[in-house]
Amino acid sequence: MNLIPEIEKYIREVHEFKAKNPEDLEQFRIRFLGKKGIVPEFFKQFKEVPPEQKKEFGQHINQLKQLVQERVNTLRHSLKKHQTKHHYTDLTLPGDPFVPGSRHPLSIVRNEIISIFSRIGFTVSEGPEIEDDTHVFSKLNFPPDHPARDMQDTFFIEKDPDGESRHDVLLRTHTSSVQVRVMENQKPPIRTISPGRVFRNEAISPRAHCIFHQIEGLYIDTDVSFAQLKQTLYYFSRAFFGPETNVRFRPSYFPFTEPSAEMDITCMLCGGKGCNVCKYTGWLEILGCGMVDPNVLEFNGIDSEKYTGFAFGMGIERIAMLKYQINDLRLYFENDLRFLEQFSADF
Ligand code: DAH
Repeated sequence: MNLIPEIEKYIREVHEFKAKNPEDLEQFRIRFLGKKGIVPEFFKQFKEVPPEQKKEFGQHINQLKQLVQERVNTLRHSLKKHQTKHHYTDLTLPGDPFVPGSRHPLSIVRNEIISIFSRIGFTVSEGPEIEDDTHVFSKLNFPPDHPARDMQDTFFIEKDPDGESRHDVLLRTHTSSVQVRVMENQKPPIRTISPGRVFRNEAISPRAHCIFHQIEGLYIDTDVSFAQLKQTLYYFSRAFFGPETNVRFRPSYFPFTEPSAEMDITCMLCGGKGCNVCKYTGWLEILGCGMVDPNVLEFNGIDSEKYTGFAFGMGIERIAMLKYQINDLRLYFENDLRFLEQFSADF
């Protein structure tokens, strides 16, 4: 008895089979693969097949079995696809609500600051977060024993084989390092701002964090004056905090600027009358600034007889805290949606 022509007939049938619905398909599957189905029945007859036909019989029956399985899978898949299509063409269903994301408050503030400075010709430049002592300290005129280089402030990346920190590779502690990178690569006139992330080895609390963001500004040309610095920052403060804002400058010290100043703005919460945010002074400190120290120009290959410049640096977290009245720095880094969703109206 030769069963092969019969198996071939079934193979053709399987090839041609089409299922109208899942029930159809299930019946087809049971008819072939069910316990008493066509395929198991053939396997039972294997014993009676004469030895010289066993090999060919085996191959045919396996081919049939595999074919049925493949056919069932393909048809199942295409029935499902068909069903979903059907689902989407039901025009009476309500639409899926589209929830737009929101920008992070630090991005909103950074973008706004960039846009204000770009209106008066400042470009944006960036530098690496992993830096070296030269760019973060030496070429910014930090004396070798300056406390800012201290291990308590700076995260050093590499250690010597004996476990001692090596002081030449570190996480930048301020974006002033980008000033050095820009001066290395560009000739004056230079007019740029540099937003970026900075790192300091501080215990995390509502008022301090080991990661924060700054925006650095640098303007170098012939005849740049302190009056221009003041006017630039006055323009920025009014554009950002509102037209009623006043500024005042207090003398300060930074190694890379001479003279140096800190700038305060009118407290926007009380309009200068005094409240608990401004500690009843009417003023809020927002940035450090000054005329680029001639040493810094010279260290970076710029002729300090010919060129002068001004620089300033501000903390983005601080400015965002004032704008949105956020009282805990940790909120910026926790990615809590209840916090982030409150900024979806800004962009
Ligand atoms: N780099 C200073 C800091 O991190 C901020 C700063 C002060 C930047 C004065 C400047 C500047 O460019 O002129 O505290």
